[in-house]
Amino acid sequence: MKLRYFAHSAFGITTNKGEHLLIDPFLDGNPNSPVKSDQVKADYILLSHAHGDHFGDTLKIAKKQNSLVICVNELAEYCASRGLRAHNMHIGGSYKFSFGKVKFTIAHHGSITPDNHFAGPAAGILLFIEDKIIYHTGDTGLFYDMKLIGEMNKIDVMLCPIGDNFTMGIEDAVKAVEFVNPKMVIPIHYNTFEVIENNPLKFKEDVDKMNVNCRVLEYGEEIDI
Ligand code: NI
Ligand code: MN
Repeated sequence: MKLRYFAHSAFGITTNKGEHLLIDPFLDGNPNSPVKSDQVKADYILLSHAHGDHFGDTLKIAKKQNSLVICVNELAEYCASRGLRAHNMHIGGSYKFSFGKVKFTIAHHGSITPDNHFAGPAAGILLFIEDKIIYHTGDTGLFYDMKLIGEMNKIDVMLCPIGDNFTMGIEDAVKAVEFVNPKMVIPIHYNTFEVIENNPLKFKEDVDKMNVNCRVLEYGEEIDI
């Protein structure tokens, strides 16, 4: 499958079967994304939480492409109330879709929609696609259960915030990588705004010492996983 980093926490996945998934599609308002919302394909949109830098262009994209939005119940209800197709899930639960399995994890963070509707808890997302496991932590502080998540699931790719202020900074993110012990980690949620400026190469330097492959992706870069 192909994994494409747009910038911030936004990713696109194209499966070998040719299905298109978006995660946290914050594109049009994202100063670093070279790709805009009318340039992406989405059979499915997965949301970690409702903050504007994650919910992003969900309404626009899903309305136009009839995408199925997958997220926690409260946010899914909000999406449905706006006329979108939504699949309600919640933390700890998993469900098999045509592309693979999705399971939501805890994340220590808040969640409110850009128009101020409470949207339930923020979450992390585990994706089981083909023979790979991807862990998008969402926005979160460090938590010890990441160790459990890593023990129970052999994570191939961890998508891990390092920008500090709203989420883990580098020091805590390095500890999170130690807990999860993925084959590869990609730093996210940095350098979008002034308050989350951080150096992904410093993160890479620390993670490399733990023999975990750290890929610092360019905005818009696509890799095979
Ligand atoms: Ni957030
Ligand atoms: Mn965020």
